Amino acid sequence: MSSTREQLIKLLSHHANTFVSGQWLSDQLSISRTAVWKQIKQLVEDGYRFESVPNKGYRLTYIPDKVSKNTVYWGLKTKSIGKKIEHYDQIESTQTLAIKRAQEGCDEGLVIIAEKQTAGRGRRARHWDSNHDKGVWLSLVLRPDIIPIQSPQLTLLTATVLLDVIEEITQLKPEVKWPNDILINGKKVAGILTQAQAEHDQVHYAVIGIGLNVNQEKNELTDPIKHSATSLKIETSKSNSKQLVIQTILNRFEEVYFNYLKDGFKSIKTKWLKSAYRLGERLEYSINDEVKSGVFIDLSDDGCLIIENDDRMQEKLYTAKIHWF
Ligand code: BTN
Repeated sequence: MSSTREQLIKLLSHHANTFVSGQWLSDQLSISRTAVWKQIKQLVEDGYRFESVPNKGYRLTYIPDKVSKNTVYWGLKTKSIGKKIEHYDQIESTQTLAIKRAQEGCDEGLVIIAEKQTAGRGRRARHWDSNHDKGVWLSLVLRPDIIPIQSPQLTLLTATVLLDVIEEITQLKPEVKWPNDILINGKKVAGILTQAQAEHDQVHYAVIGIGLNVNQEKNELTDPIKHSATSLKIETSKSNSKQLVIQTILNRFEEVYFNYLKDGFKSIKTKWLKSAYRLGERLEYSINDEVKSGVFIDLSDDGCLIIENDDRMQEKLYTAKIHWF
């Protein structure tokens, strides 16, 4: 059950184009008019703004650009993704907490958001630079009815969501570097970390971690990512509302995810390939210390890169180290 404050914000935001009277709010929330007034006063202290007209009531005119679960809820059109949100100013890693929540049995759609992560994690146990509030750091819990071999598809699905969202926000054309990097002008702007728990033929949960560099300036990117990373701000010279970015990601995610559960991986794969970094180009890769080379020609349904090697044989790469040149 949501708090009175959450219900009040929801009511006010649904009626943002009209005035609502204190009496109507008090009836809807089953609290006194004085209590309504106290809640509104608190919202004003938190940066919300209202137009207030005698005999007409209140109209919400501004929601502060501070990420909080309430401000994120406001723009969500989703049915399950983000229905429950936990927001932290600082946490070790949203991923670690989301996995814990998934193991405790939380519902699908739980989203954990942090302003800062003190121990943000990337793939292959790498550190993810997020001990500052310039990016979107979030993890979401899914319980898809898929078999374990399909779980890499969730990373590719998330990549297509981020491609769309970044394009919508920046009007630039980002690319996806297999398996989980989103690039703008060849530099990494976002990463995806998918961790799933499965048994036999069923995925119990998958946690999707998304790290998106939003408002960093160039001099705020430090070693070792200084030269290889970028942010939306660096690429467009514009700051973005993190709250809006999060809402756009979650809204789009649900749309794409529901379509995927209904229609399968085909359209995700087509979309992914359209923005694939170095598709059709030659690359080197090493498997068990043997260095080989070939042309990146396709993506398999289980999320592998398909390479045509120099003997004209097709090879599927699961975990190979790729030298992208
Ligand atoms: C990668 O590119 O290696 C994946 C990076 C994933 C980073 C995100 S930030 C939110 C979530 N919490 C973490 O600790 N990691 C993921």
